[in-house]
Amino acid sequence: MLAKKITLRNFRNIEQAEISFHEGINVLLGDNAEGKTNLLEALYFVSIGKSFRLQHLNELIRFEEKEAFISLDFYAGTRDQSISVLLGNNRVRAAEKNRVRVRRMSEIIGSFRAVLFCPEHLSLIKDGPGERRNFLDIAICAAEPLYLAALQRYHHVLKQRNALIRSAEDNPTLFYETGDVWSKQLAKEGAYIAARRALFIGRAERYMKECFAEMTDAREKPSLCYLGPCMKEISDYADNDKTEKILYDKLSRNMEREWAAGTTLWGIHKDDVEVLLNGRAARTFCSQGQQRSLALALKLAEGELCREETGEYPVFLFDDVLSELDRSRKEYLLKKIKGKQVILTACEAADFAGERCILVKGGSYHQKEE
Ligand SMILES: Nc1ncnc2c1ncn2[C@@H]1O[C@H](COP(=O)(O)OP(=O)(O)OP(=O)(O)O)[C@@H](O)[C@H]1O
Ligand SMILES: [Mg+2]
Repeated sequence: MLAKKITLRNFRNIEQAEISFHEGINVLLGDNAEGKTNLLEALYFVSIGKSFRLQHLNELIRFEEKEAFISLDFYAGTRDQSISVLLGNNRVRAAEKNRVRVRRMSEIIGSFRAVLFCPEHLSLIKDGPGERRNFLDIAICAAEPLYLAALQRYHHVLKQRNALIRSAEDNPTLFYETGDVWSKQLAKEGAYIAARRALFIGRAERYMKECFAEMTDAREKPSLCYLGPCMKEISDYADNDKTEKILYDKLSRNMEREWAAGTTLWGIHKDDVEVLLNGRAARTFCSQGQQRSLALALKLAEGELCREETGEYPVFLFDDVLSELDRSRKEYLLKKIKGKQVILTACEAADFAGERCILVKGGSYHQKEE
């Protein structure tokens, strides 16, 4: 995967820009508030179909303007491709893939594969399970389009089932009959999703262990533990039929409890991943630098697994990646990203001597002379 050129109009503080990227490392160099993260946000928008920073698309449109436009030329598989998106009225007004109009953003997601690391990703280690489920979903979707469809079906059924639970009082017969049909569907989709998550986590853990062994001379040993929907009964989720049966049993036997709680109590929407370092909870016991290293290793693993599934590395988008890392961790990271396409932000050039820089000032971008 190679990002070649992005064209932007009225996106955040960028009135108009056309920026070309090289293979290898591209450093977006500039002071605070000049537009470095904005450019990464535009690139990642094209990848996942939404912003990583906000919900309201209107905030992406330049102040006083009505529309924003992003267009990316990239190389994927064996050919040049393009995606363009027009934003307005708080939504995606039009989108094209390879110059052909698409009806839904889901037709675009996963075409331009990118892995983003930004300071907010420390929440992967520090915050609640929602962040980690989100991470898993984005990472697995990039490598496997079927996963996105299963996830969408799961959440659709979950919504219907929860509405039914809330109306149980009015119509108990309907609650038991229709509820059972939906329990079956949730169990089926849930079993597949749990299997993919378990597989991803197992492979990510192996890769993170290797990273840390090298980065810390084996002093720090990370581990990931999937807290899936059938934790007590199942260890690896490899057998979909078995998971489906256990999940269905839980859902169908406990409908009274769900009635009382007003919501679906079991399933992959409750999943979490426990992140440990040397056997202790990373959230509580790790230093800032250790937490950042863990989040970064997770992101590198995401890229590595994407390559295993699709045959090519995604583009790495790294926002403010080196702060809080000591010299040996910085050196390790820079060594690790060599040979991949990386677009990263920095305020100081010192860490990136010899790399190609794009100077960022007030939403304008200029290649720095060598
Ligand atoms: N919709 C918008 N219209 C115009 N300007 C905006 C809009 N949204 C954000 N900005 C401005 O874009 C500027 C640059 O933001 P950005 O997050 O890219 O900075 P940065 O270069 O990454 O800075 P830092 O080094 O502090 O992270 C900010 O000053 C912000 O006010
Ligand atoms: Mg920034």
